[in-house]
Amino acid sequence: MPKKPIRVGVVGVGNCFAGLIQGIEFYRRDPAKKVIGLMHRKIGPYNFKDIDFVSAFDVGANKIGKPLNKAVFSSPNLVKWTALAPSRTIVREGPILDGVGIYVLNKIKPLKKPTDPEKLREKIIKEIKNTGAEILVNYLPVGSQKATEFWAEMALETKCAFINCIPVFIASNTNWIKRFEEAGVPIIGDDIKGQIGATIVHRVLARLCDERGATIEKTYQLNVGGNTDFLNMKEFERLKSKKISKTQAVVSQIKKSLKANEVYIGPSDFIPFLGNTKLAFIRVEGKMFAEIPYSLELRLEVDDKANSAGIVIDAIRLAKLALNREIGGYLEVSSYLMKHPLRQKTDDEARQIVEDFIKRK
Ligand SMILES: NC(=O)c1ccc[n+]([C@@H]2O[C@H](COP(=O)([O-])OP(=O)(O)OC[C@H]3O[C@@H](n4cnc5c(N)ncnc54)[C@H](O)[C@@H]3O)[C@@H](O)[C@H]2O)c1
Repeated sequence: MPKKPIRVGVVGVGNCFAGLIQGIEFYRRDPAKKVIGLMHRKIGPYNFKDIDFVSAFDVGANKIGKPLNKAVFSSPNLVKWTALAPSRTIVREGPILDGVGIYVLNKIKPLKKPTDPEKLREKIIKEIKNTGAEILVNYLPVGSQKATEFWAEMALETKCAFINCIPVFIASNTNWIKRFEEAGVPIIGDDIKGQIGATIVHRVLARLCDERGATIEKTYQLNVGGNTDFLNMKEFERLKSKKISKTQAVVSQIKKSLKANEVYIGPSDFIPFLGNTKLAFIRVEGKMFAEIPYSLELRLEVDDKANSAGIVIDAIRLAKLALNREIGGYLEVSSYLMKHPLRQKTDDEARQIVEDFIKRK
């Protein structure tokens, strides 16, 4: 019997999703190409090609009503890696709630007359059921607390596994975890950790200094970029959980607990011409033998969207394994995939957790 595709619904048809769907198409078009950037070519029986995006939700007036293959190229999206085959999936309206911040309002341009969220609720449930989506991936902008809670509710109601790529704490919140456990629905989160992103690089550097016996006395990580994600993060009030997520991901790897004034980690500015290029500047300083000071600095330049897409492909396939095995609640594989899991592990431990999960250990 041919294997069924993994049916995925996506919330927020922005740059991250544009990278995810175009990256899959990039490899689909040239099967002879070696696939870079996934943990394994196959996870369980699933290849990345088995992922099918069957439903999608957004608030941008220029995206709603369009087929996915067109919506992903609509402004303000910037990812243009490869053309897409025509898609039967039409982008549907989601409730705006707190999804659109002040700086991105005139870029996202939401519907002028949005539907009442209560009315949308029923429509959305119907859409998810009709399209047969079994996993929901949340790509809302940073600061979308209420909107993310809405979609977590939708996941519970429709029994879709929930992959929370953003720093709103759902998978790392024990009340939410209990609800996902009780509903028998798997959840992975929170805040996707890039493949070679500032977080993983900073974690590894910090751990290296610790393990070599040096102290870490101060550290910072500054991040700049030029897409709507970075523009949105100029709004300081929306940033609170992003800073917590990024900071905990790094300080969890350092033995000595640093005081608030000894660590600064966060998105730092929006530079329009950078587009999806993200620059991270990392500094670690401390003391080594005989209390002699040292410092190191690192500059990382990456395409922010290529950085997250491969990890999300792994997350989708791991969520599908959980669904097949009827495992509900928090999935420990989050510690490999996400910046703010329920429990922080070292990156080696986290990788082993994923390998063991795949092998059902
Ligand atoms: N490497 C990475 O790119 C990375 C890493 C970690 C986390 N993230 C997070 O992933 C999220 C998505 O990033 P992005 O670059 O795609 O952002 P983006 O701004 O390009 O896309 C966000 C999309 O959400 C839509 N939207 C806004 N409010 C909505 C609502 N209420 N309902 C439905 N759709 C709504 C917007 O119209 C837009 O299409 C961000 O929160 C980002 O911080 C990204």
